[in-house]
Amino acid sequence: MSTSELKRDVVVAQLEDLKERERIVVDAGGTEVGLYFHADQVRAWSNVCPHSGGPVCQGKMMPRTIQLVVENRKSGGPGFHPTDRNIVCPWHGFEFDVLTGKHPADQRVGLRSVPVRVENGEVIISI
Ligand code: FES
Repeated sequence: MSTSELKRDVVVAQLEDLKERERIVVDAGGTEVGLYFHADQVRAWSNVCPHSGGPVCQGKMMPRTIQLVVENRKSGGPGFHPTDRNIVCPWHGFEFDVLTGKHPADQRVGLRSVPVRVENGEVIISI
């Protein structure tokens, strides 16, 4: 590994602030990163959509859409998953699971993760 490939740790948020807002987009030395707090877990994703490079982390967080099934396996119409959340890219609407970063219809497509950890209430990424 060359010197230019070495990663550095950057404190980008306070955990309490992230919990309250659920999502924060930060600029860490020219790299935009979306920080998420959901289901007691922290995630960091590159703010570049794998579809066409849109600012995916600036999109809304929405409950995952599901199809309800009622008696005799008939459709009960659309509904929302009680806990799963997707990030919806603001450019063309591609969705990505906030915890896995994967596209729900094609698990080969996903967001680029950024290493993140929490220490003493500080959210730290490695870039
Ligand atoms: S750039 Fe994100 S859906 Fe197209």
